[in-house]
Amino acid sequence: MTEQANPFVEMFMDPARVARYSEGPLDYVPGFNDLHRMIVVLMRENAPPFANILVHGAGGGLELDVFARTNPDWSFVGIDPAKPMLDAAAERLEGVMDRIELYHGYIDDAPDGSFDAATSLLTLHFLDADERQRTMNEIVRRLKRHAPLIVAHSSFPSGHAERKTALSRYRDFAITSGVEADMAQQAMEAVSTLLPNVAPEENMEMMRQAGLKNVTSFYTGFSWHGWIGYA
Ligand SMILES: C[S@@+](CC[C@H](N)C(=O)[O-])C[C@H]1O[C@@H](n2cnc3c(N)ncnc32)[C@H](O)[C@@H]1O
Repeated sequence: MTEQANPFVEMFMDPARVARYSEGPLDYVPGFNDLHRMIVVLMRENAPPFANILVHGAGGGLELDVFARTNPDWSFVGIDPAKPMLDAAAERLEGVMDRIELYHGYIDDAPDGSFDAATSLLTLHFLDADERQRTMNEIVRRLKRHAPLIVAHSSFPSGHAERKTALSRYRDFAITSGVEADMAQQAMEAVSTLLPNVAPEENMEMMRQAGLKNVTSFYTGFSWHGWIGYA
């Protein structure tokens, strides 16, 4: 695996956190299950019958679970630098692992391939702007011409007041999901201070810089955004 210093990978090495990982996204990301179904729709628009899909940040296996079980002819390559998250994915994906290869590492460790689509979900927000751009470039380099890259992650506006509102909505949505108020507050503070925020319009520009065309937004759930662009 290519060595990189990344504090957010350390976080996903913690066995206790990994064990409860699958509950988190549903509590914090509005419409999380529907987001996966929307992405299946987007991928099916262009994919050939026996598509090969690259899943960046595949740890936990939540999206692979939906993608693989609803598309029995597709195969997948998943890549993630946190081994415990990959192990959790393999466990969750029992019964469909014959169509899935999991790689331990960063994007550079993924096969060069020639993928029919790629996704990166709830992952790129951990990467600073330079590493995010480099990673997007490397994903796009692995796509066939016209194949889509679909990303979804946290992205706050840069203006002070708008950012404050977006952060409190992030916290308050989690509270409506049943997360304890002080836990939701801590999560909001961690997101505010630790995540290298890249505002929505800058994310779209980075996708264009990576060589993607027709970059559009397909999903917004408060501070969570989903974009698609085509190689
Ligand atoms: C919040 S989880 C999201 C997992 C999954 N995509 C989902 O939506 O449930 C973030 C994942 O990104 C992985 N990750 C962190 N930095 C990464 C990087 N530079 N490249 C690929 N994956 C990374 C972590 O190890 C973790 O498994």
